[in-house]
Amino acid sequence: MFRLSTVIFTGAILAACAGDAPQDRAEEPAAASGTSEGPVSLLQLSDTQQRGRRLFETICWTCHGSAGRGDGPVALAGAVSAPPNFLTGDYPSLSAADLEWRFRGVLAGADDTHPHMRYITSILESASFLEALAYIPALTYPSEIPGSAIAGSVTYQFRCQPCHGETGRGDGSIADLLEVRPADFTQDTLIARRDWEAIFQRIREGGQSTHSSMPPWGIFFSEDEMWDLVAFISSLRPGVFPSLAEVTSR
Ligand code: HEC
Ligand code: HEC
Repeated sequence: MFRLSTVIFTGAILAACAGDAPQDRAEEPAAASGTSEGPVSLLQLSDTQQRGRRLFETICWTCHGSAGRGDGPVALAGAVSAPPNFLTGDYPSLSAADLEWRFRGVLAGADDTHPHMRYITSILESASFLEALAYIPALTYPSEIPGSAIAGSVTYQFRCQPCHGETGRGDGSIADLLEVRPADFTQDTLIARRDWEAIFQRIREGGQSTHSSMPPWGIFFSEDEMWDLVAFISSLRPGVFPSLAEVTSR
């Protein structure tokens, strides 16, 4: 078991190292114009959270999953014990410091059935590991929705943005071509009412009842992916949640 994860991680790390330098250079000019990261930039991650995100998406996601549900490919393949679902229980309210404390606790008791815990801390500088931990509270934002706005922003960029627009105003590149205008999430009344279930249903069923071009996403996405979308589009309406920066600096 340990060997399997060692091979996977060595591969992942080599790939990350090989890609690192040129990526850094390419990113700078784009970051200055504010568009390098697509819709996730609207959530305004701190520099630490952004660095943590890159590490999380290189290594941690293999077990923890991109949205932190504990459903990464290594975990699904049964190579390790099931990681926790960071979007449930008290996890969404934990700070980076709380997470570190808990992680160290698990590590102290690590036995042969949990070799990955020691392995992770042995292959990473502790500063980088702490950045990856600091990303987890951002990943669970907003805590009152069982989805991750950051994970939803990735799907949003390719599946929703062409109609709903980069900032959710209903002004995407093909919006003018449609008979019914795409919803403007910054003014959305369902979001203002915090009716998460209704928003979820609208995404699942699309424009069947409203006779619009909105696709019935339930055919294509899992429930988890749709909750991630609910989380992201709800964060686009100002004033519904405290900002990510406010929540994660507590
Ligand atoms: C090889 C799979 C694997 C990888 C990779 C991995 N984890 Fe984990 N992680 C687990 C498992 C499984 C647990 C649950 C505890 C256990 O079974 O030992 C866990 C637990 C945790 C916990 C403690 C949660 C608690 O119970 O409070 C944190 C925090 C955590 N991981 C963060 C990370 C971070 C950050 C990374 C990337 C740098 C990472 N993990 C990489 C498998 C992994
Ligand atoms: C082809 C264009 C198109 C795409 C792509 C699209 N939508 Fe829509 N969407 C619309 C239109 C048009 C409306 C307004 C009419 C309606 O409600 O059916 C709408 C309405 C909505 C509503 C209802 C808002 C309310 O308050 O009633 C939600 C929620 C929504 N879209 C979410 C999404 C999400 C999430 C995605 C990406 C997974 C997406 N849409 C992709 C066209 C689109």
